[in-house]
Amino acid sequence: MRRAGIWMYANGGGDVVQQKLVDRLREREIEPITGLDLRFAYGDNAGILCNGIDMCELDVFFSYNAGEQTVAQLYMYETLGSYIPTVNNSQAFMLTEDKFRTNMILSQAGVKTSDFFIGHREKPEMIYAKMDEWGKMVFKPIDGWGGAGMALLENRASLDMLMPFLNQIDMRHIYLERFIKNDFTDYRIDIVDGEYIGCYGRKAGNRDWRTNITSGGSVILREPDDEIVALAIHAASVVGLEIAGVDIIYDIEHEEYVVLEINGLPAFATPEQETMGLDFNDKKIDKIVALIDRISNKNQ
Ligand SMILES: Nc1ncnc2c1ncn2[C@@H]1O[C@H](COP(=O)(O)OP(=O)(O)O)[C@@H](O)[C@H]1O
Ligand SMILES: [Mg+2]
Repeated sequence: MRRAGIWMYANGGGDVVQQKLVDRLREREIEPITGLDLRFAYGDNAGILCNGIDMCELDVFFSYNAGEQTVAQLYMYETLGSYIPTVNNSQAFMLTEDKFRTNMILSQAGVKTSDFFIGHREKPEMIYAKMDEWGKMVFKPIDGWGGAGMALLENRASLDMLMPFLNQIDMRHIYLERFIKNDFTDYRIDIVDGEYIGCYGRKAGNRDWRTNITSGGSVILREPDDEIVALAIHAASVVGLEIAGVDIIYDIEHEEYVVLEINGLPAFATPEQETMGLDFNDKKIDKIVALIDRISNKNQ
């Protein structure tokens, strides 16, 4: 019998989702092994051990964390990905954890992203030149999460304020994006295995320009059009994620959709959000189960 390792968040309805996953995998004669948190894994000559399970002997590993991952956990995930199939595949997942690399690959493939710039802090004149060119820009940690650590720079004076701080922290490069003029709402499009699953939006809180829930934003109901769905499917395939939450905003100035980021761990709808009308969880679970089945099937 095939064995699928699972690490799934439990809060916000994650436990209910996991139970459905487990039941549907068993229906397909795949034995689910839950609770495999790579945060507590270790490796030796025998393999990568987690909760007494040799991870390298599994047929597939499905990892679905909520929240921030530790460096050690990502490292183990990447290593494990060289031996067994993981969902998401660890290569695409690591790519989308990096905002610069993600925007690079999307841009090279012709997908519209924000204008971005990465450069040395030893060359601050280039940073000031971008400020003059863009007018308003966003400073972001390359591997940031939940809107944290970002700064909106509205003029040269705000950049002057940030520079001494940047020179103190241990950061190899400075990453910046042109501030996209938008109505402070976004679209989150869920994709699994190249198929559209669901759409909702987020609206920034009164005091913030960021739509993240952790920055005071809230979920809104939103119908996607064909253009935005096609854009999300294309963007997910460019980065190679099997499961993707594609965040898109509408650039008011240039009148076009822009892919802002691609999330490799897009949360399922919480029970409260399901009450609001976000009804894609079952479809998403079904698609993920079919994906796990296909990927773990060595005879195919
Ligand atoms: N270039 C930009 N122009 C305008 N708004 C932006 C830009 N980049 C980010 N934002 C706002 O900040 C939020 C968080 O940015 P994002 O790049 O998604 O980082 P995180 O990974 O922390 O969510 C976005 O949802 C959006 O509302
Ligand atoms: Mg985001």
